[in-house]
Amino acid sequence: MTHRVMPFHRQPLFRNAPEPAFLSRRVEGYYQERVHNTWDGGHIMRGRHPGGDAIHLSSNDYLSVARHPKILQAAADCLLASGNGLLMSGIFLHGDNPLLDLELRLANFMGAEAGVLCQSGFAANTGLIQSIADETTPVYVDMMAHMSLWEGIRAASARAVSFHHNDMAHLARQIQKHGPGVILVDSVYSTNGSVCPLETLVEIGTQSGCVLVVDESHSLGTHGSHGEGMVAALGLCDQVHFRTASLAKAFAGRAGFISCSERFSEYFKFESNPAIFSSTLLPHEIAGLAATLEVIHDEHWRRRALEANAALLRQALDDLGYNLNGSQSQIIALESGSERQTIVLRDALEARGIFGSVFCAPATPKNRALIRLSVNAMLTPDALARIVDVCREIRGEVGLADWASTRRKKAQSAAPAEPAEAAVA
Ligand SMILES: Cc1ncc(COP(=O)(O)O)c(C=O)c1O
Repeated sequence: MTHRVMPFHRQPLFRNAPEPAFLSRRVEGYYQERVHNTWDGGHIMRGRHPGGDAIHLSSNDYLSVARHPKILQAAADCLLASGNGLLMSGIFLHGDNPLLDLELRLANFMGAEAGVLCQSGFAANTGLIQSIADETTPVYVDMMAHMSLWEGIRAASARAVSFHHNDMAHLARQIQKHGPGVILVDSVYSTNGSVCPLETLVEIGTQSGCVLVVDESHSLGTHGSHGEGMVAALGLCDQVHFRTASLAKAFAGRAGFISCSERFSEYFKFESNPAIFSSTLLPHEIAGLAATLEVIHDEHWRRRALEANAALLRQALDDLGYNLNGSQSQIIALESGSERQTIVLRDALEARGIFGSVFCAPATPKNRALIRLSVNAMLTPDALARIVDVCREIRGEVGLADWASTRRKKAQSAAPAEPAEAAVA
């Protein structure tokens, strides 16, 4: 008999094994608390289907390279020539190998000694922290750091010591209390586009003898004169031990990367569980990423267009009264607050053809849900004008004036400016 894979909306042909009560209760909790009570039987993530003229602001393909002919050709040629290659863990790779070549090219691009390609940004972060921390290590983590960094702390059974978002004075106090350890930050924070004060961070990290890990998922490719990332652009390469990145953002592929020392790269491949126990990337993914690296390095106009588009949109939305929570990048969040208010915002945007990404718990704190707009290099002046017009038009409908984020913005602009030295106290 042929088993057909049924589309989602059809009745299943077969029944799964019945769940024991403890699991059934847990799953039922999700349907009751979230789907029924909070989303009124709808789904916060599933709004309209975009029409042909929709503006997509949900993809992290910031440089608009996902359909670049040179990249697609390189991946297609390789797929036809090599198929899916040898399916195995990366620990078996050595000698003359395209994956190992690409590791070195990516490392050189970032101004690093060496590097390791991983199956994803998630695998890079969890694998790295699991291999550099243990139960005796305090791991200082920005409260807004990506979930994969927190998962890494769990995988290492290490002690998470959080510090307030971008609050370097709080970080310094925590280190004073708990001693040297590992510091984890994102260069650009994925939920609201705020940027880590890397220079101060490096100063604190170096003085206190900590290991520094910077997740550059949202700055690799987009920041620096050739896309080498924010750490390199600031001249801090020799003071940051590890830079990690998802290559599913500006690189528009499916992989992760860790920059490190040559000595560490060998250690990592034999100590990190995702590196040992999960199969490595496929040949055509490597070929595609190698071509992407050239495009990103050479096509400066993409970075310039992205930067200009993001700056224009940030300024316009700020002027309209939206609180952008300190975004200084291509990630712009409209923080609607409760999940119900976020559904109202989603519907207002989508009805007018603007599609962002809904972020809610556990990606944000409860009641700080938001719609993230990811800007890209190919947005035309007309598209940008349409986004701004829509955001102007919906302010009443979505209750912008009543959002907690709007009240915070008003309070901040009414407050007297802090004396300069208070920021570094
Ligand atoms: C800052 C950051 N780190 C890591 C990841 C995980 O990357 P990937 O999707 O490649 O697993 C993401 C993606 O959501 C991210 O935004």
